[in-house]
Amino acid sequence: MTAERKKGKLRGEEYDLHSQLKELIPEQQERLKKLKSEYGKVQLGNITVDMVLGGMRGMTGLLWETSLLDPDEGIRFRGMSIPECQKVLPAAKPGGEPLPEGLLWLLLTGKVPTKEQVGALSKELRDRASVPDYVFKAIDALPVTAHPMTQFATGVMALQVQSEFQKAYEKGIHKSKYWEPTYEDSLSLIARVPIVASYIYRRIYKDGKVIPMNDSLDYGGNFSHMLGFDSPEMQELMRLYVTIHSDHEGGNVSAHAGHLVASALSDPYLSFAAALNGLAGPLHGLANQEVLLWIKSVVEECGENITTEQLKDYVWKTLNSGKVVPGFGHGVLRKTDPRYTCQREFALKHLPDDPLFQLVSKLYEVVPPVKNPWPNVDAHSGVLLNYYGLTEARYYTVLFGVSRSIGICSQLIWDRALGLPLERPKSVTMELLENHCKKVPLN
Ligand SMILES: CC(C)(COP(=O)(O)OP(=O)(O)OC[C@H]1O[C@@H](n2cnc3c(N)ncnc32)[C@H](O)[C@@H]1OP(=O)(O)O)[C@@H](O)C(=O)NCCC(=O)NCCS
Repeated sequence: MTAERKKGKLRGEEYDLHSQLKELIPEQQERLKKLKSEYGKVQLGNITVDMVLGGMRGMTGLLWETSLLDPDEGIRFRGMSIPECQKVLPAAKPGGEPLPEGLLWLLLTGKVPTKEQVGALSKELRDRASVPDYVFKAIDALPVTAHPMTQFATGVMALQVQSEFQKAYEKGIHKSKYWEPTYEDSLSLIARVPIVASYIYRRIYKDGKVIPMNDSLDYGGNFSHMLGFDSPEMQELMRLYVTIHSDHEGGNVSAHAGHLVASALSDPYLSFAAALNGLAGPLHGLANQEVLLWIKSVVEECGENITTEQLKDYVWKTLNSGKVVPGFGHGVLRKTDPRYTCQREFALKHLPDDPLFQLVSKLYEVVPPVKNPWPNVDAHSGVLLNYYGLTEARYYTVLFGVSRSIGICSQLIWDRALGLPLERPKSVTMELLENHCKKVPLN
């Protein structure tokens, strides 16, 4: 090999995510092996009856490398907070919002990518972004009135026909190689979901007039473009949106559902479809739809210039009718979600006078009288999208889903690289709990 070619190859590898991962995997496998052999028997806490009855809250039981959630500080992606990511991840323009491709690189490698590495990954995703016709036909078989998340999960299931992992498994792949077709599927899935998602949007709301991808745009910019929004501000919003919604450690419903299904060696498409079905629940991802509908119902009933007292009354009305105040509370977080804060900062910069933004700000001051009255990510996203013309709230969870593909698939590649086992927690009956508790004295 000539020095020139060698240099070119090395440079190619430096920009290639797959090569970078291949280098990292052996050391992380060793790390896990050591953890298991040296500390396998160390206790991590006690399981109480409350935890079993309370949806496993506070029970540590999953390995999730890509991000970690602190109840007070919020999410950190590979150790980095959202403001830190905004500072160091490459952007489309100076001082702009982070490119989601950069976050994907960070989640997968634990390293902040250079602009060139992100450029190469952007291109790789564009090159992989082709969707077979039968996927659109599968979606078209559903009534146009079907919920956008139902259409999205259907599209992802139809994409599964192309799974490289499934083909490799059928042929008889060695388990040490599982991560390779998982990587192929994951990157292709991440590349393809914006096309499927924008097809659904155009199908439902824009008479089926599909907009093709623009080869000069990045992942977030292109997604916004294919949906039909070409303003530079909306493209920036989409980059921020896709970045911050991507990952929220492993125990949330969508991440956990994806991880659980993947633990049966189901391929990334099957696993991600499971994640989407969890995301479609109103206590999880569907909350972003519910927030905008709730805010619009407030305006309809009380007008845009609602007083604090009126807003308080409306919150009570919602609670008294046995409903949740969407966008508030969280299974883990006990402070304002930093994903809310960065969207608020975006609004203060770009749409400070928007009446719905002001209503969201007022709601923050009113503080719903619930046990954990802090706003989460969903409390803010709808008013931003609505401002730029993406007003169809029923569609919002699909945007969340596109973003989640990045986090869930990144971890899934590591699940396979680390050889994580089938998940199989123990369940018990009430009778077993009663009998057990009679024998164990309360402290
Ligand atoms: C996310 C959510 C399901 C977490 O619930 P949780 O893990 O049970 O949280 P907590 O332990 O703080 O809840 C304690 C109680 O307050 C209630 N609560 C929490 N947030 C609430 C809200 N926004 N509106 C009304 N009640 C709420 C819970 O339902 C629970 O009631 P219960 O004791 O009668 O079962 C809950 O906060 C919620 O329903 N929020 C609204 C939906 C939403 O925004 N989801 C997106 C989350 S990112």
